[in-house]
Amino acid sequence: MLAGISRGDWSSRRQTALPARLGGDLVPVSDDEIAFRIQELRRDGSKWLDPEVFGGRYSLAGAQAKFALARLSGDWYWSNARVASTHILKPAPDGLREAEQIEAASMRLARMVGIDAPDAGTISALDQSSYIVERFDRDTSTFPFRRIHVEDFAQAIGLPSGRKYGVTAAQSIRLLRRADMTDEMAYGFVARLAFNAAVGNADAHAKNYSLFIRPEGLSLTPVYDCQTTVFWKRFDERLAMAVAGARRSAEITPPH
Ligand SMILES: Nc1ncnc2c1ncn2[C@@H]1O[C@H](COP(=O)(O)OP(=O)(O)OP(=O)(O)O)[C@@H](O)[C@H]1O
Ligand SMILES: [Mg+2]
Repeated sequence: MLAGISRGDWSSRRQTALPARLGGDLVPVSDDEIAFRIQELRRDGSKWLDPEVFGGRYSLAGAQAKFALARLSGDWYWSNARVASTHILKPAPDGLREAEQIEAASMRLARMVGIDAPDAGTISALDQSSYIVERFDRDTSTFPFRRIHVEDFAQAIGLPSGRKYGVTAAQSIRLLRRADMTDEMAYGFVARLAFNAAVGNADAHAKNYSLFIRPEGLSLTPVYDCQTTVFWKRFDERLAMAVAGARRSAEITPPH
């Protein structure tokens, strides 16, 4: 087990107790440990789902191996019940190594065209690299950091993750209109949908769009997981959400 990570963090307590009531120290993470974890996840992409292998406290969706760390005053720490993670690291598997640069570039491009996107880039630890993105579901203005409740569209509609490809753009818009009659959220979603189509991201399914749930109401989260999937010819080019009948990004024209 890596230093500072207690398996106790993964006990069933974490499902029931409020994070603030649970303990957790600030345990620094060394470059060695970051590099080791990246290397291990790259070697076996299924390991991140097994708490017996790594421990640490984070709970993230998605198919690709990833882990989370907390950044405080310029230093990295393991996340635990008290210390919420602030960043997600997603090392690309061998054979898809360009994915790290491409996702970072897509996120920067989103910002340049006026779509809300978190800070993203690549990080190096010793001889290892990874895609890294700042978490938008954290308030880091105070310590301990506050977690902000987020639900993805599949969760908000009440569907299990196995049905994330079954949700259409029209269904997503209907979901948003139930919460916001002004259509501001619906247009925000359409901008994100258009952006994903424009960068050739065929994998923008219902778990790749999310909503903040705050006491003051619902709002769209920034974009995430923007990957130019059409860069790799072996992936299915059909869009997870068709745009007015167009099933491939190259087919989409302004009238769509
Ligand atoms: N910047 C972020 N801030 C907060 N949560 C995030 C952020 N980026 C991703 N997430 C959450 O983590 C989950 C997994 O991230 P991401 O979608 O990048 O992984 P993935 O494994 O590539 O997903 P997929 O299965 O769609 O390919 C997302 O579904 C979202 O809930
Ligand atoms: Mg995703």
